[in-house]
Amino acid sequence: MERRVVVEAFFLCLFFALLLGSVRCSSITELNLNRRSKSDENSSLCSQLIQPSGYPCSEHTAETKDGYMLGLQRVSSRTGDIKIKPAGPPVLLQHGLFMAGDAWFLNSMEQSLGFILADQGFDVWVGNVRGTRWSHGHISLSEKDKEFWDWSWQELALFDLAEMINYVHSITNSKVFVVGHSQGTIMSLAALTRSDIVDMVEGAALLCPISYLGHVTAPFVLDLVTLHLDQMILAMGIRKLNFRSDIGTQIMDSICDEHNCNDMLTSITGKNCCFNNSRVDFYLEYEPHPTSSKNLNHLFQMIRKGTFAMYDYGLWGNMKQYGHLKPPAFNLGSIPKSLPLWMGYGGNDALADVTDVEHTLKELKSKPELLYIDSYGHIDFLLSVRAKQDVYDSMIRFFRSLRKSNSS
Ligand SMILES: *[C@@H]1O[C@H](CO)[C@@H](O)[C@H](O)[C@H]1NC(C)=O
Ligand SMILES: *[C@@H]1O[C@H](CO)[C@@H](O)[C@H](O)[C@H]1NC(C)=O
Repeated sequence: MERRVVVEAFFLCLFFALLLGSVRCSSITELNLNRRSKSDENSSLCSQLIQPSGYPCSEHTAETKDGYMLGLQRVSSRTGDIKIKPAGPPVLLQHGLFMAGDAWFLNSMEQSLGFILADQGFDVWVGNVRGTRWSHGHISLSEKDKEFWDWSWQELALFDLAEMINYVHSITNSKVFVVGHSQGTIMSLAALTRSDIVDMVEGAALLCPISYLGHVTAPFVLDLVTLHLDQMILAMGIRKLNFRSDIGTQIMDSICDEHNCNDMLTSITGKNCCFNNSRVDFYLEYEPHPTSSKNLNHLFQMIRKGTFAMYDYGLWGNMKQYGHLKPPAFNLGSIPKSLPLWMGYGGNDALADVTDVEHTLKELKSKPELLYIDSYGHIDFLLSVRAKQDVYDSMIRFFRSLRKSNSS
């Protein structure tokens, strides 16, 4: 146990030392391992972040075909009541990597997509994938089992997102709008290649759309890819990536005290035009959430190989898993032309690079409605203080135009 903590700490320290070149990994032994986590075991996303702002919010649980219990929150406008009034069209919000459903509620009520959609009368559903703090474990596995962490975005797409869409569709008896950010768009695009999932979806809005990752420019990420850090972590037997373990939190805190957190964010996401630096402490109360090492490994495979394909187990493993030497690709061409898509992407996004976005567009049969913002980085699409007027108003117009053409 002690050893595992030290190994994890060392890895985390290495991770940040690579970026900043100044953290002394030897000082880890001085850190207090007993520090309490801020989050109360009992609290829920509804009670912690959404209800305090006056929004009706209820907690739901969806069980995936492979046994994970996912938390979903249903949010409606401050004047509405889900129980009395029939709600507007359902929208499912799918967060990105190292995040969870809280990501859509971290700015003010006037700036955050989750609150804005609820205010505009949408029936807002908040997704949380397996492994995040708002998901509720597994029917038989414990988070301490290494099998619990044996998944990548492939399972998040084909099990988690598929199940959440199915859940919302069956409760509301309506087709669902899907909004994804970053990894949430990888999941959406992969899931939408399946016709049974498409049948439940009315349209999708993708923020920082990713399917190909061959042109990532983020220096910090590329350093880690070059170092094969993903494979190192797996070889060390670490299956869960958790920067909020006691030790992870302390390292993050000390880095953010000594350095500008924004510099670190920039080298991961690209320069964000409209990031509110005075809210960093608040953001860090919620982010980052855990993910699996295998997921990071799969994402790094995509960066190395430039493919949008299933997890690569190596030649022998692929034969066993898929019956082919190479992992099967997700074919963007099988997303039906009739499915309405909207995409927002930015000129300063170092993860969803414009070249990769264009590659995605070329393979799609449909012509998505596009919103390009030159000054936006990867996080702006979620946390920009101007996101409403720059991005969300346009997305909401898109949703409304679909509802109008469907009901006439
Ligand atoms: C936690 O939840 C349980 C069960 O709902 C309840 O009995 C208990 O009082 C709660 N504890 C706190 C500290 O809220
Ligand atoms: C940035 O965050 C601070 C602290 O929450 C808040 O007071 C301020 O209004 C925010 N700035 C903008 C432009 O929204």
